[in-house]
Amino acid sequence: MKILLFGKGGQVGWELQRSLAPLGELIALDANSRELCGDFTNLEGIANTVRAVAPDVIVNAAAHTAVDKAESEPELARTINALAPAVLAQEAKRSGAWLVHYSTDYVFDGSGDKMWLEADPTDPLSVYGATKLEGETSILASSCRHLIFRTSWVYAARGGNFAKTMLRLAKEREHLTVIDDQIGAPTGADLLADATSQAIRTAMLRPEVSGLYHLVAGGETSWHGYASFVLEFARHAGIKLKVATEAVAPVPTSAYPLPACRPRNSRLDTRKLQSTFGLYLPHWQTGVARMLTEIL
Ligand SMILES: NC(=O)c1ccc[n+]([C@@H]2O[C@H](COP(=O)([O-])OP(=O)(O)OC[C@H]3O[C@@H](n4cnc5c(N)ncnc54)[C@H](OP(=O)(O)O)[C@@H]3O)[C@@H](O)[C@H]2O)c1
Repeated sequence: MKILLFGKGGQVGWELQRSLAPLGELIALDANSRELCGDFTNLEGIANTVRAVAPDVIVNAAAHTAVDKAESEPELARTINALAPAVLAQEAKRSGAWLVHYSTDYVFDGSGDKMWLEADPTDPLSVYGATKLEGETSILASSCRHLIFRTSWVYAARGGNFAKTMLRLAKEREHLTVIDDQIGAPTGADLLADATSQAIRTAMLRPEVSGLYHLVAGGETSWHGYASFVLEFARHAGIKLKVATEAVAPVPTSAYPLPACRPRNSRLDTRKLQSTFGLYLPHWQTGVARMLTEIL
């Protein structure tokens, strides 16, 4: 099997380089790749890359993920999150390749407190959410064979992440405030990459699994719950923190006005993915604890 991976340097792309490697020949690109174009602002370039490589599976981990910045550069966000995936879908349809793509909880408006199902109505609140939704829609409309995974609150040990920010602030300050009215599931890039690899293996044998799936770690929490878990874990590991447990105060989203609106309810129902692919999604604390062990 030949796999073409776009966005190899991102959180998920980096882990995919590991998890996809045993499946077959892997050609991994980023925006700066020289011999083959991996730059999503060059739509003709990426179409030519797909034609030159002729992969069995295209995996797209590239995206414009700077949610607040996207509000002031909507055209660039749309090119990367919607137009480029549409080109990949057309090329996949033309060649018979599979397209694996990632989307987001931001396609929903975050209302209510139920877990979102794949078929629930979408209504993005931000440019990022709207462009990611357009990317999904283009892939579905192309009728190429696809796996689209909607995920949320992605972290990785490599690079910056929410946990590292909380740890830094907790060493510097006596008081912290963290949002407690957005609910979701922190999901490791390693879990996403491993589940992707398993799903591709299934898809090769059972093409009828082509579709859209929610893929997040088990359980749920708020950003405040996430931060509290991180700081408790660090304390138990002997890390000296300036902030006391009770000095980490929960605050509403309105305390931190940002350019892009975030959904309050990011709970994603993953039963479809678990039953289709026979996968078990561990509780979010399992992955976060493992990541913390790696970075502390
Ligand atoms: N991060 C989250 O919390 C989250 C939540 C829900 C869904 N998702 C989705 O999950 C997927 C993976 O996200 P991630 O967390 O791995 O994001 P990430 O770490 O920001 O990675 C995105 C990658 O896309 C690359 N990229 C940006 N502009 C590009 C361009 N013009 N051409 C080619 N590559 C370009 C980035 O490269 P540079 O770093 O060089 O710009 C980066 O390597 C995305 O589809 C994202 O929408 C993420």
